[in-house]
Amino acid sequence: MIKYAILGFGVVGGGLAEVMADQREKLAAAAGEEMELGYILVRHDYPDSPWRDKLVRDFAVIEHDPDVAVVAEVIGGVGPAYEYSRRAILAGKSVVSSNKQLVAEHGAELAALAREHGVSYLFEGSVGGGIPLLRPLCRCLAANRIDEVYGILNGTTNYILTAMDQRGRAYADALRTAQELGYAEADPTADVEGIDACRKTAILADLSFGRNLSPEDIPSRGITAVAPADLELARAMGYTVKLLGRAARTEEGVCAFVEPHLVPESHILASVNGVMNACAIRGSAVGEVVLCGPGAGAHPTASAVAADIADAVRHRADPQVPDLGTPGDKPLPADELCSRWYVRAKCGPEAVSAAFPGAEPVYGSTGECGFLTAMLDRRQLEKKLAAVDGRAAYRVLA
Ligand code: HSE
Repeated sequence: MIKYAILGFGVVGGGLAEVMADQREKLAAAAGEEMELGYILVRHDYPDSPWRDKLVRDFAVIEHDPDVAVVAEVIGGVGPAYEYSRRAILAGKSVVSSNKQLVAEHGAELAALAREHGVSYLFEGSVGGGIPLLRPLCRCLAANRIDEVYGILNGTTNYILTAMDQRGRAYADALRTAQELGYAEADPTADVEGIDACRKTAILADLSFGRNLSPEDIPSRGITAVAPADLELARAMGYTVKLLGRAARTEEGVCAFVEPHLVPESHILASVNGVMNACAIRGSAVGEVVLCGPGAGAHPTASAVAADIADAVRHRADPQVPDLGTPGDKPLPADELCSRWYVRAKCGPEAVSAAFPGAEPVYGSTGECGFLTAMLDRRQLEKKLAAVDGRAAYRVLA
C-alpha cells in the first residue's frame, strides 16, 4: 500500500490528517489505490493525538522510507519547509504543499527539480484555501489567453474588514477572532500588511502569464491604515472596502500589486464576506470567471491538499508539475497604472472641487469627507492630496 507523510501538525496538518481519514475510500478511488498515513513530522509531543503512533521528529525517517510516495508539506515558511521539500523530491517522492511563501519564493526551482526527478509538485491549497482555483486556471481555462486575475486572496483581512463594516467591531478585536479561528498566519503581520496576498498574487501571475515574478517585486499595501471612516464613507457612496491582489497582462508586460480597493456594491466581490475568498479570471475565450469559497481554515485548506495527494498518487507514472514560468522578469510599476481613486479628506467642498473638478464629496460622522476622482496615476493623485488634506486614498475597482 502506498504511504504518504504529513510534514507539520498545525492547523492545516491536523485538518489534513482528519480529512484523509474521513474520506479514505473516496480519496482511494481518486488515487486509484489505497493510501495509508505513514508519518506526521512534528516538533512537539502530542500524547493524546489519535495519530500519536505516526509522529516522528526526524525527517530522515520519511526520506528513507521507500514506501512513502507523497509528502504533504504544511509546515509553512521557507527554512525547513524548503529543505524537506528538496530532500523529498531528491528521494523520488512527490511533494504537495499549501505553503504560499515557499511556492511564491522557490516554487519554480522546486518545480524544475520535480520535473528532473520524475515526481509531482502540486500546490492547489496555496492560493484560495479550499477553492478549486489553480487547476481550473491551468487546465479548464487552457484554451484562454489569461488577461487578468484579481481577487480577495486573504481570509484574515476579509474577515476583519467584514467584521468592522457589518458588525462595527474594532480592528484588534476582529483580528484576535481570526487568529482564534485558525485563519491568520503565525505572525499575522503577513496577513494585515498584504504580504500573504502578495505571495498568492505572485503564484496566480506566474501560472497565468508564464513569467515567474518575485513577491518582493510586487508592491503591496495591507489593511492596517483602513479606518472605520473609510468603511462608513465607502458605504455612503455605494461601495465596500476589500483588499485585492491584482495581476494583469499589458502590452508592455505584467502589472501586479496588492492594495485595499473600493468595490462597487453591485460587483460580485462586494458580497464575498468573512473568511471567504474569491478570484476573478479574465480569459480571452471565456470572458470573466469568478471562483469563490473558504480561503483559510483547517478543513478547507486540507480539502485542497488531500486532493493533491490523491492526484500525485494517481499520476506516479505521469508526474504533474504546473508551469510557474521563467524567472527574471520584473512587473511593471503599479504606480503608473491609472484608475479612479477614493479619497478621504478633511476639507470643505470648495477645496475638493478646486483640486478634483467634478468630484462630489460626501461627509461622514468624523467630519471628514470621501469622494471619487477621475482617472489618475498614483503620482498625479499624490500631487493633489495636500490641497484637500487627504488622509487616505484607495483605488476604485472599475
Ligand atoms: N492566513 C491566510 C489567510 C491563510 O488568512 O488567508 C490561508 O492562506
